[in-house]
Amino acid sequence: MEGNVPIRYLGSKSRVAATIAREVLNGHPTQVVDLFAGVGHLSSGFAMKCPVHSIDVSAFAAEILMWRIASGPRDPDQVAATIEPIYAEHQSLMSDAYAREREAEATFFASPSAAAFMEVEASFGSEPGETRCRLDGSLITSYFANSYFGVRQAIELDAIRCALSRARSEGRLTVDGEREGLIALLCAMTHLSNSPGHFAQWFAVEGRVSEVTKLWSRGVWTQWRRELHRMRPAGTVDWRRGNRVTRANSLELDVPLAGRPVMLADPPYTEAQYSRFYHVLETTTLYDYPECHHRGRYRSDRYKSPFSHRTGVIEAFRSLFDLTLRSNGELFVTYPECAMLHKAGSSIPDVAMEVGLRATRISTYELAHAAPGRGQARPKIVKEELWRVDAQSR
Ligand SMILES: C[S@@+](CC[C@H](N)C(=O)[O-])C[C@H]1O[C@@H](n2cnc3c(N)ncnc32)[C@H](O)[C@@H]1O
Repeated sequence: MEGNVPIRYLGSKSRVAATIAREVLNGHPTQVVDLFAGVGHLSSGFAMKCPVHSIDVSAFAAEILMWRIASGPRDPDQVAATIEPIYAEHQSLMSDAYAREREAEATFFASPSAAAFMEVEASFGSEPGETRCRLDGSLITSYFANSYFGVRQAIELDAIRCALSRARSEGRLTVDGEREGLIALLCAMTHLSNSPGHFAQWFAVEGRVSEVTKLWSRGVWTQWRRELHRMRPAGTVDWRRGNRVTRANSLELDVPLAGRPVMLADPPYTEAQYSRFYHVLETTTLYDYPECHHRGRYRSDRYKSPFSHRTGVIEAFRSLFDLTLRSNGELFVTYPECAMLHKAGSSIPDVAMEVGLRATRISTYELAHAAPGRGQARPKIVKEELWRVDAQSR
């Protein structure tokens, strides 16, 4: 009943979602507000038990949440059949517009070498970003071809993305149908990318030419169809109808939290900024041709969370606990035993006490955390704790 979004994503708590949900549901809340909902593993743990309001600051996470916990009935075959002809048309236009780059890539594939790879790069004639754009609907090719994806792959990714939005604007797809197709595309990108499943950096081509040509020969349409069929929303349509999703900064919430809210927080816990690791998914979702920089091609307006900074983390927890105090609510926090807050010399009970709240540890569990940026390094086993933070008087 928890659903499935087959995306490669750091810090997944799917294995403990049921345990956390059980603890949170102990007090029989009328609604749970998931303040750092990510791709919705924890929110989905409440399927059929309690309505959820899920919040995340990033646009791609909000899209995934809307589909996973708040969508209507689905028909993946109809989504694919509707966009296929539009996809083929856009792909053909793009193949003409980027004929020079396609040819350079074919030469690289026929005789893989670092020099042939550099020729593909030179064929674009400008830096990655908007200046590489040749026609409407070429963002992924302009920003991320010949790095995270091959040129042909990037063209196919753009063609699916554009076919979905055209089908929606022409009334041939519903909002949910377009969203479902987009999420399958985001999932496919994490599986196809020449990177460790996130997008902090793409793997260098030098010394790995045969691996890269193999990766870039993989078909995007087939992978997209596969993800479309692997995806499952959480719970039933009836349960999903009672849920809500907001894209917002949870530390600056201006949406009203009804009654005495029961909140759940799974904030970032390392120096790894989610916006650096998932900028390709964010830009594909927003499709807004942003200013970008660095070899990783990051959007320059990406959100940087204070939870990932040694100098900002204590204040960030203070704001979170202030929200609990102001709303007279109850907050559950899941956080590793030795994470950024501890590196900054504080702890959950210390910060809670500072703002006049009480923190009670209610359970501890072990989790395998992926090591971001370390390629194929084995996940680290980390002790994670679940805290309840509430008013001392209760
Ligand atoms: C550890 S992940 C949460 C994973 C989530 N529990 C799940 O089940 O997928 C942290 C999430 O917090 C989000 N985030 C970071 N700072 C935020 C803020 N100030 N407000 C809202 N979301 C934030 C990130 O975008 C990221 O998705």
